[in-house]
Amino acid sequence: MLHNGSNVFTTGATGLIGGELVRTLITQPIGKVWALVRPTDDSPAERLSQRRRRSGPSAAVPAQRFPVAVAGDVTQERLGMSPEDYEDVRRNVDIIIHSAAETSFLRASACRSTNIAGAKNLIEFTRQCTRRPLLVCLSTAFVSGVVANACLSEDEGCRPKDDHHNEYTHSKAVAEELVRSSGLPVLVVRPSVVLSAGVPDEQFARAILQFCPLLKELGALPVDPQARPDVVPVQFVVDSTIRLLQTPHRRYDLYHISCGLDGAMTYEELRPAFERFYHMTSPMRLVAPRHWNKDLHRTYIRTPDQRRIFATIKNYLPFLNMNVLFDNTRLKQELGDRFPPLPRLDEYLFGLLEMVSHDRIARRWLAAKGA
Ligand SMILES: NC(=O)c1ccc[n+]([C@@H]2O[C@H](COP(=O)([O-])OP(=O)(O)OC[C@H]3O[C@@H](n4cnc5c(N)ncnc54)[C@H](OP(=O)(O)O)[C@@H]3O)[C@@H](O)[C@H]2O)c1
Repeated sequence: MLHNGSNVFTTGATGLIGGELVRTLITQPIGKVWALVRPTDDSPAERLSQRRRRSGPSAAVPAQRFPVAVAGDVTQERLGMSPEDYEDVRRNVDIIIHSAAETSFLRASACRSTNIAGAKNLIEFTRQCTRRPLLVCLSTAFVSGVVANACLSEDEGCRPKDDHHNEYTHSKAVAEELVRSSGLPVLVVRPSVVLSAGVPDEQFARAILQFCPLLKELGALPVDPQARPDVVPVQFVVDSTIRLLQTPHRRYDLYHISCGLDGAMTYEELRPAFERFYHMTSPMRLVAPRHWNKDLHRTYIRTPDQRRIFATIKNYLPFLNMNVLFDNTRLKQELGDRFPPLPRLDEYLFGLLEMVSHDRIARRWLAAKGA
């Protein structure tokens, strides 16, 4: 349990979730926080400061509470740490929060080395630690693989042997299974789709929403109007994880951090606000994929630009159409009145789209993807 004086080792603190998690963690009355950071031309400490700045103004925190940046790489033996850092963390850590991952849908081999080999290295490291720390893993709700039209409970979730839309979710499923079968004290949290609401950083907003400004160029899309995406804001993930860690005697070692059946919106419900946001003069037609035929495709995907855009968004369509929600009853019951605020998607989506609404940026991204 996270309490006064707990020493916490984190990975992935330069990323969206890890960065926000560390930012909140250091406001708590806990012990030392280390952050494992890959060195680049900039030092790990400089990279952590750069990440902190991307979050905007933060609550004032005394300098001695700042995380200690430790150079390393989860794909390497002993996490690539120097012998001194390795010994310091190994002897003193109480909680390990593993958020580092390769999150690309395209880089399959990097997904395997970072997510699977990375999990093995974290497990091995945890075994070597003196204080039998809790290993907390940021998994993903999408470890369920190819599923459609369902509301899944945690126990229906992890399917490493089933088909997956990409190696990212497959590698995360393998990693989760390794962690949960390790025999170590573990806590696995499975966020659904996490948006960077409240973080004033265009790059984080773009990570998931970059394709949205392009959609207005297409008058119709093979997206089921009645499908609902399960999306949550990053602070909900951070607060849920920290509150779980502060809960004595948790009933489970695995929780969805998701929107579930409460407040999930259909694309049809989101559509009017989307059209208004992009000043679209005619309604966008959403067509369930089973009804999307060659004639519709020829009618709506006509120009070279439209074809390029369609080729780009193709990778997202299976996810947009999954219509899978992840039941959050377990998290609600565990946290009770400490369940964090969970705003509806339309309350924060358009603020994020403001940051990615420039066609210029979207087109640059399209060109970089070579679509
Ligand atoms: N964002 C979502 O929608 C979402 C949803 C569900 C679950 N998750 C899970 O939540 C976790 C955090 O996701 P995120 O969105 O914050 O990811 P992110 O923004 O892509 O950040 C990934 C982090 O992992 C680090 N990393 C990658 N490879 C590494 C390596 N070999 N050694 C050490 N660090 C490495 C990155 O460091 P660099 O800065 O050096 O690249 C970065 O800090 C991941 O486990 C992800 O699978 C995310």
